[in-house]
Amino acid sequence: MTALTLSTAAAPGLRADAIVIGVGKGGKGPVVAPGADAVDKAYDGRLAGVLETLGASGAEGEITKLPAPAGFKAPLVLAVGLGAEPKDGDTYDAEALRRAAGVAARALTGAKKAAFALPLADAADAGAIAEGALLGAYSFDAYKGTAPENKKDAKGKGPLGEVALLGGKPRDKEYKAAVERALAVTEELNRARDLINTPPNDLDPEAFAAVAQTAAKEHGIKVEVLDVKALEKGGYGGILGVGAGSAAGPRLVKLSYTHAEATKHLAFVGKGITYDSGGISLKPAGHNETMKCDMSGAAAVFAAVVSAARLGLAVNVTGWLALAENMPSGSATRPGDVLRMYSGKTVEVLNTDAEGRLVLADALWAASAEKPDAIVDVATLTGAMVLALGSRTFGVMANDDAFRAAIVDAAEEVGEPSWPMPLPEHLRKGMDSPTADIANMGERMGGGLVAGLFLREFVGEGITWAHVDIAGPAFNEGGPFGYTPKGGTGSAVRTLVRLAELTAAGDLG
Ligand code: BES
Ligand code: MN
Ligand code: ZN
Repeated sequence: MTALTLSTAAAPGLRADAIVIGVGKGGKGPVVAPGADAVDKAYDGRLAGVLETLGASGAEGEITKLPAPAGFKAPLVLAVGLGAEPKDGDTYDAEALRRAAGVAARALTGAKKAAFALPLADAADAGAIAEGALLGAYSFDAYKGTAPENKKDAKGKGPLGEVALLGGKPRDKEYKAAVERALAVTEELNRARDLINTPPNDLDPEAFAAVAQTAAKEHGIKVEVLDVKALEKGGYGGILGVGAGSAAGPRLVKLSYTHAEATKHLAFVGKGITYDSGGISLKPAGHNETMKCDMSGAAAVFAAVVSAARLGLAVNVTGWLALAENMPSGSATRPGDVLRMYSGKTVEVLNTDAEGRLVLADALWAASAEKPDAIVDVATLTGAMVLALGSRTFGVMANDDAFRAAIVDAAEEVGEPSWPMPLPEHLRKGMDSPTADIANMGERMGGGLVAGLFLREFVGEGITWAHVDIAGPAFNEGGPFGYTPKGGTGSAVRTLVRLAELTAAGDLG
């Protein structure tokens, strides 16, 4: 993990591999962002012109390298584009800072230490830069080569080792808290990415549960793991039905973080399919290569609960990880089987590839029994949501419009693109089953909303609930961008943490 410190050092005297500065896109070419004054001065105030000569425009994601001016201990200046220069009096917004810091951290793969001299107006900006840098520096190298090289990425270089945030105030309480928050959340988020990226032959439900158990103990979180026997005893027909085809049995993990002064209780429920082959309704080649990512919801919930504990938030947060592997075999659930769910409802399984809603249904009902103030489930639930919103935006559905809006707002605040989606009542009848109380599939059109309507049936009466479908943004199949790597992204972690913070502060519900 990349180390990060607030520093009052002046850029010239700092021993580092590079000084990172920001460049905005102005009306008449690149503009040097605040924070880079020392570098600009050493270039006789001509840095903007130098950058323009080198082809820089200040566009988001752009990297321009130039030799450090005479008198600097660091050899390299790395100018990173911040996008449009803010209007008079405004400062760069948090997401622009996060992305630029992430781009810079990625560009510095292999470097030991970098000084970030990005524009930093307050403690929140310091937190944003820290977050972007620590998330951007992420790399997953556990399976690259053999020791000792296995600490290196594909290019044979490890991630950026150390970041010094220049202009930070190491003795200021707010700055310290902002950086500590960034360290806690990014460490847990990066661990969620590791879990998502871990191949499914090494991360089955039992292994995931063991990771959760260890982390929970470390952070004073109560943990309960229901194994197959316990699930059978409890009547968890949804989780058992999905796990029935796999040699690796399912688990339901309950993580309870409590705070003595808490007045509210949030429940987070995560879909944790450690591999989704589709089951007997097998996915064709081309659709199963990335299905190790189908536990991203559970990974997000896990990371959010541990983050809440590390931050000591004054709110009770219960995390439910519904873990199963969806495989075809002689013992697998068949299309046509009827499952008796934990809630007592029966479900006709028409398509074993619509498995996420089955494990979530049991976990939602279990979560409901505690009567939390609100439940949020997070799931890589439907391909339909990816078709609707693309690969960077998650969809938010809810049984309460204000709660749905609050989640979209929280997501916006932390830089996670999201969009509110409806739960149209007319789609419910498509799931009517001649045999059981409900079928696990309905109309194809609006498939993401149909899945949401199915889940709603398993939320306890009167409980505020939202469903977050992260099937698009959970796993980045394209190239890295901003602070988002290829592979597991950690989608929804920061939104859940923000929800917990807002609830603790009494600003939600
Ligand atoms: N895990 C998939 C959804 C998914 C698709 C996640 C693409 C990430 C990327 C889910 O279990 C699934 O297979 N859903 C089916 C439901 C259908 C059979 C009703 C789908 O969306 O096709
Ligand atoms: Mn599926
Ligand atoms: Zn799935």
